[in-house]
Amino acid sequence: MNETLITAQTANAARSNEVVLHIDNLSKHYGKRLAVNSLSLDVHRGDIFGFLGPNGAGKTTTIRMALGLIAPSEGKVEILGQDVATQRARILPRVGALIETPALYLYMSGRDNLRAIGATLGGVSNARMDEVLGLVGLLKRQKDRVRTYSLGMKQRLGVAIALLQNPDLLILDEPANGLDPAGIVEMRDLMHRLAQEGKTVFISSHQLSEVQQICTRVAIINFGKLVTESTVEALTEGKREYAVKVERAQEALRLVKAQTWGCDAYLEADGTLITRAPDDRGRNLNLFLMQAGFVADSIGQATQDLEQVFLKLTDNVQGDVA
Ligand SMILES: Nc1ncnc2c1ncn2[C@@H]1O[C@H](COP(=O)(O)OP(=O)(O)OP(=O)(O)O)[C@@H](O)[C@H]1O
Ligand SMILES: [Mg+2]
Repeated sequence: MNETLITAQTANAARSNEVVLHIDNLSKHYGKRLAVNSLSLDVHRGDIFGFLGPNGAGKTTTIRMALGLIAPSEGKVEILGQDVATQRARILPRVGALIETPALYLYMSGRDNLRAIGATLGGVSNARMDEVLGLVGLLKRQKDRVRTYSLGMKQRLGVAIALLQNPDLLILDEPANGLDPAGIVEMRDLMHRLAQEGKTVFISSHQLSEVQQICTRVAIINFGKLVTESTVEALTEGKREYAVKVERAQEALRLVKAQTWGCDAYLEADGTLITRAPDDRGRNLNLFLMQAGFVADSIGQATQDLEQVFLKLTDNVQGDVA
C-alpha cells in the first residue's frame, strides 16, 4: 500500500458520520433538456466538498435545488435530515450560501452591509460581525465603502454574509470566479480557515488546482450526471505508475511497451515516460532500464493532477449542448 492510499483512507476514517447535505436521486428538466440527471450525493459534517463539472454540467441548478430556490423535477434534497422542499424556512437559517456574485450595497461600508443584512435576519451582534470580518480578512477595511473594494474583497464580504448566522453548512457557487491570482489566493486562505473552524463547505468551482488544494472530497458531474465521487487523494493517486525522466525517451517507451507490465506506458507532452514497473517496484524498473542502457535522470511515483483526471473523466466534452 502506498502513502497516498493511506492518506486517503485516513481522511475517510476521520470523516464524520453525520450527513449534512443529502442529495437523493435529484433531476431537473428544463423543457426537454435534462439539466440534472438522477444525482445522488452525501456531504458529511466537516467535508470541504468540491463540486466540479464543465460549463452547463448542472452545478448551479443543483445548488439552486439544494437551497429550495427552484423545485426539482424528481428526487429530493435533505439538509440536516430535513426535506428542503417542505422545511425550507426552518433549514435556511442553518445554511449560508453565496451564488455567483453577492448582492451588496455599494454605497455602504462592509460592516454596514453586514449590519443591514443581519437586521433582515433578526439582528446580529457586534461580536459576531467582528468575528466574520476577521475570518474573511476584512477587519481593516470594514469601514470603507464597498464601492472601493476589489472583486476579491466583495466576494469575501459575500462569504462573511453567508457566515453571519454561524451556519452548519456553507454552499458556495464559484466563489473564486473572476478573481485574479491574488484574489484566488485570498479565497484559498479563507477556505483553509473555514476548514480549520470545522465548517462543512460545499463549493462548486472551475479552479481545479484550487479544489485540489482546498477540498477533502470531490464530485465530478457532466451532463447533469455524477461521473465520480471520491477523496481528492484517491482521484489523483498514480495508479501504481512511475514517471521517468530519461534521454531517448521514445526508444525507452518502445522497449517498455514490449514488456507485459509496461504495455500501457506512454509519454507525456514534456517527454516524461509514464509506466508501470516490474512487480510494481520502482527499483525493478530502474534496474530494467539500466540493464537496457537507459540511465534515468529521475524516477518517481506518478500522480495525476485533478485537471488531468477531470478532463479524462469528462472526456473534455462541454455539457452545453442544445
Ligand atoms: N432557467 C433555465 N432555463 C432553461 N435552461 C436552463 C436554465 N438554467 C440552466 N439551464 C440549463 O441547464 C444546464 C445546466 O446549467 P447550470 O447553470 O446548472 O450549469 P453549471 O454547471 O452551473 O454551469 P457553469 O459552470 O457555466 O456555471 C445548461 O444546459 C443550462 O443551459
Ligand atoms: Mg454555474
